[in-house]
Amino acid sequence: MRINFGAGPSMIPPEVLKEAHKEFIDFEGSGISIMEASHRSTLYDKVHNEAIDLIRELYALPNEFDILFLQGGASMQFAMVPLNLYEGGAIEFADTGVWSAKAIEEAKLLGYNFKIVASSKDETYSYIPEVNFSNDADYAYITSNNTIYGTQYKNFPKTKSPLVVDASSDIFSYMVDWENVDLLFAGAQKNAGPSGITIVIIRKNLLERSSNSVPTMLRYKTHAKANSLYNTPPTFSIYLLNLTMKWIKSQGGIKKIEKYNKSKASLLYEALDNSNGFYVPHAKKESRSLMNVSFKLQDNELESELLKEATKAGMIGLKGHRSVGGLRASIYNAMRIEGVSALCELLNEFAKKRG
Ligand SMILES: Cc1ncc(COP(=O)(O)O)c(C=O)c1O
Repeated sequence: MRINFGAGPSMIPPEVLKEAHKEFIDFEGSGISIMEASHRSTLYDKVHNEAIDLIRELYALPNEFDILFLQGGASMQFAMVPLNLYEGGAIEFADTGVWSAKAIEEAKLLGYNFKIVASSKDETYSYIPEVNFSNDADYAYITSNNTIYGTQYKNFPKTKSPLVVDASSDIFSYMVDWENVDLLFAGAQKNAGPSGITIVIIRKNLLERSSNSVPTMLRYKTHAKANSLYNTPPTFSIYLLNLTMKWIKSQGGIKKIEKYNKSKASLLYEALDNSNGFYVPHAKKESRSLMNVSFKLQDNELESELLKEATKAGMIGLKGHRSVGGLRASIYNAMRIEGVSALCELLNEFAKKRG
């Protein structure tokens, strides 16, 4: 088996894959695969609602929130959020990387008023800037974890405006203070299962904002009213999402996972920090992500050599994003500490040999 450090789609817990394999052809003795079941059948209905109930339970989500399963990836949310929440005032953005910039682009395209309240573009997005949102925006917007640069908010900025969070690369990796958040979305393909399904957690009072001039499929209200069954949902992706939620529960829940994630990340950052500058993390210390660890080698000619050695040792997905280069180890929920230790060992040996 390979150790998969890919940024997404990424590692899925082996227990989930094994369970899916076991019941692939015959789901719970029904004689058919879950993929073949109608999305209106009781067989599928149970899976769909179990996934919703488990998300609510794991996140201790208050009743004022709805959980939606949508398509179009997190990128579709860059447009759906403004289409549904903009009220003619202003949108406030914190620009912490490519994914926030893409969200800003969509607001611009729609011709909506927006302000970029804070940005770390000046230093290749290597830190989370201080964000001071006003209290009277139509909504305020952040990207909680910046997958490419390996930066992450330690706390979300406080604002009385509705706060929208793109949590695509750190959903279900720590508990969320729902007092402070009004809409959180994520593509599932990093911490919640396979691609093809986007989770949107939205405060119910925001559902009323979307006007009927927004196309039906792009209106949150449409999906909320139909329990995300307005049209055919990606049933197999939701099935795998449900198995992943069961796996999180079996690990002791999100708080336990968060603690585990912290020990994984500190092991890896320690290896980088103790390399006498041979490895240089991209993110500033106080902004470091627990999910994506981006780093360079002082001598970048050695990077491809290191990548080759990693592949030989069974480690894949370590090449950094083209916009920052270097290497990136994505250590999402599914990554075991043994995988991180193996990587640290490789890094230490390589630094000893070539440093
Ligand atoms: C933080 C973040 N937002 C949005 C996206 C885009 O997701 P999708 O490919 O599901 O549209 C990604 C993809 O990696 C991401 O990391």
